[in-house]
Amino acid sequence: MASISIRNLIKRYGNYTVIPALNLEIADHEFIVFVGPSGCGKSTLLRIIAGLEPISAGDLYIGDDRVNGVPAARRDIAMVFQDYALYPHMRVYENMSFALELRGVPKTEIAARVKRAAALLHIEPYLDRKPKELSGGQRQRVAMGRAIVRNPKVFLFDEPLSNLDAKLRAQVRAEIKTLSQQLKTTMIFVTHDQVEAMTMADRIVVLQGGSVQQYDTPELVYERPANQFVAGFIGSPTMNFFPAELRGERVVLSHDGTAVGLNGAAQARLKNAGGKAVLGIRPEHFAVAPDASEAIEVTVKLVEPLGSDTLVHFELAGVSAIARVHPGLRPRVGDHLYLRPEPGKTHLFDNEHGRVLS
Ligand SMILES: Nc1ncnc2c1ncn2[C@@H]1O[C@H](COP(=O)(O)OP(=O)(O)OP(=O)(O)O)[C@@H](O)[C@H]1O
Ligand SMILES: [Mg+2]
Repeated sequence: MASISIRNLIKRYGNYTVIPALNLEIADHEFIVFVGPSGCGKSTLLRIIAGLEPISAGDLYIGDDRVNGVPAARRDIAMVFQDYALYPHMRVYENMSFALELRGVPKTEIAARVKRAAALLHIEPYLDRKPKELSGGQRQRVAMGRAIVRNPKVFLFDEPLSNLDAKLRAQVRAEIKTLSQQLKTTMIFVTHDQVEAMTMADRIVVLQGGSVQQYDTPELVYERPANQFVAGFIGSPTMNFFPAELRGERVVLSHDGTAVGLNGAAQARLKNAGGKAVLGIRPEHFAVAPDASEAIEVTVKLVEPLGSDTLVHFELAGVSAIARVHPGLRPRVGDHLYLRPEPGKTHLFDNEHGRVLS
């Protein structure tokens, strides 16, 4: 049993509070991804769970055990560090087998486990090398292999794929996901990468300033962000935000009075919020309309053809915005385009705190 329960956890470095009163319940076998901007406390939280960093206040449970004072070695957790932390004087094989030898695992069993992990991570050719004779990406895979062979109750990964090239990254991403399904181990994975967060996680924890902004499935984090921070952080290109207000029966963009056709529910929410709010529209939720009727006319500033779709940059109501359109449509800079927000796909956030209006 390796559920993880974090209750009112506080972490301070001197007078500086990195994590103010955090609560989090992770179920056994769950694959959790922590995302958030640099410095928001992702690594600190992982190190706390691993037992490498003391807690200032609160409680941490792994399974039914309160582990606040339990040393890292007795937590049965394997962590892959952001900077790998390989033993420089040991060959790759020893780096991977060392912890098992300490535990007295039989030699044949160790060899089998190292072989399996090395095959999975494509590092068999490097087993006799020292870490300094490897590329960054290879070192990262060794660090992952070292965690995998231990068969721990909980895996903690701190941006383990950041040094891999795009192709290998996609491959290892899929392998880790498969592995998590096979091993049935609780996993916490830290990443900056949208795609990794969305594709791997059972649930995503979005962190900012050491606080949980939202803890939901990838679908809900994307479709129903709890606040403007989450809305802007998840999704690429990022959600467009416009100051908007109700003028009479019409919703308009505050800066220049451009009318946007929002549905009745959205209008009602705007009204409840005092008539003013931040309107959020994802680039993929602009539909291209044939003419100006009920659409917004924009002037194309920049076109980025991605192959699978095309990003169109434009300026709207004083805001630089992006629409994701069909790749067959190749507007040119200076062209006029008619865009219509897809009904029911817009978001509204209160001006003051950025909370979603519901
Ligand atoms: N030992 C320490 N002493 C003082 N402050 C620290 C210490 N370790 C981390 N911090 C601070 O705590 C905050 C959180 O750091 P942490 O490493 O957890 O961020 P992170 O979310 O992992 O960022 P990144 O995405 O850049 O890896 C940062 O502001 C950092 O400067
Ligand atoms: Mg970090």
